[in-house]
Amino acid sequence: MTLRHFLRDDDLSPQEQTEILDLAARFKTDRLADRSLEGRSIAVIFEKNSTRTRLSFEVGIHQLGGQPIVVDGRMMQLGREETIEDTSRVLSRYVDAVVWRTFAQARIEAMAGVSAVPVVNALTDEFHPCQVLADLQTVRERHGDLPGRTLTYLGDGANNMAHSLLIGGVTAGMHVRVGAPEGFAPAPWVLEAAGKRAAETGGSVRVHHDARSAVDGADVLVTDSWTSMGQENDGKDRVSPFRPFQINTELLAATGVDTSVLHCLPAHRGWEVTDEVLDGPASAVFDEAENRLHAQKALLAWLVQRS
Ligand code: CP
Ligand code: NVA
Repeated sequence: MTLRHFLRDDDLSPQEQTEILDLAARFKTDRLADRSLEGRSIAVIFEKNSTRTRLSFEVGIHQLGGQPIVVDGRMMQLGREETIEDTSRVLSRYVDAVVWRTFAQARIEAMAGVSAVPVVNALTDEFHPCQVLADLQTVRERHGDLPGRTLTYLGDGANNMAHSLLIGGVTAGMHVRVGAPEGFAPAPWVLEAAGKRAAETGGSVRVHHDARSAVDGADVLVTDSWTSMGQENDGKDRVSPFRPFQINTELLAATGVDTSVLHCLPAHRGWEVTDEVLDGPASAVFDEAENRLHAQKALLAWLVQRS
C-alpha cells in the first residue's frame, strides 16, 4: 500500500483518472453501492467559503458509510499559529483522510508532507482538482469519450480552475484552450506541466488572447468568476479586460458546433456568463454541481482503498 494524496490534477495518472470517472458514473446510478468508509472518519476543513464542496463531501462521506467532520479552519489552532505540520501530525492520529480548502498550494503540500493519511485538495489558490473530476464526468455524460474533445476555458487564465482544467483536461487526452486577457495567462510552470502530460496522452494546450479564436470548434466552454476568493483587493482591474470573454449567446454561437457550457459556480450572472446561457439548453452547470458528489465519493473510495 502506498499513501496517495490528491493535491493537483496530475497526482492521478491518465489511467487512474479514467478508473475514478468510471467509478463516479457507477456511484451516480447507485448512491449507496459502496461502503468503503464504514468505520472511518474524514476531516473536511475550510479556510474559505464553500457551498458545493462542503455539502458534497459531507453527504458523500455519509453515503460511503463514514463520518465527516466538517471544521472551520479559522476556528482551529491553525488559525492561531499552530504549524501546519503539527496540525497534520495530530489529524493523522484521529482521521483516515483530510480534505482541505486553503490558500497557497504550499500549505496543502506542507500538510501532505508529514501526513500519514491521504490529503485531498478541496481548492487552493493554484488548483481545484476535485471540481475538474466533476467537470470531466459532466463532459463525458454530454459528449461521450473525452480524448480528442476540445475544451475552452474563458476568463482568468491564472486562477485555480484554469490551472486544474489545463492539467486535468490533458490528462483525459483533451485539447485544452485558455482564452484570457493579456496579463491573465496561466502560470508558465502549469503550462509546462500540462504540456508534459499532453505529450503522453495526445492532448494539447493553447493560450489565446482573442475570445473568438479560443472558442472556434470547442465542444465545451467553461468559465469562472473573474475575481477568485482572496483576490478582492489585489489592485487589478478584474472587469474591463474580461468583458470580451463573457459567455453570451453570441460567443456560444461562435463555436459553430454543439457546445456545452460549464461553470464551477458560484456564478456572477451578467458578468462572466449571461442568464440566457446559464439557464439555456447548453448549460450543464447543475449536473456539474451534482457530479461533485459522485466524483468525490469515487476519489475517496479509491484513495482509502490504496492507503
Ligand atoms: N464550485 C465550488 O467549489 O463551489 P463552493 O465554493 O460552493 O464549494
Ligand atoms: N476560482 C474560484 C472558484 C470558486 C469555486 C475561487 O477560487 O474563488
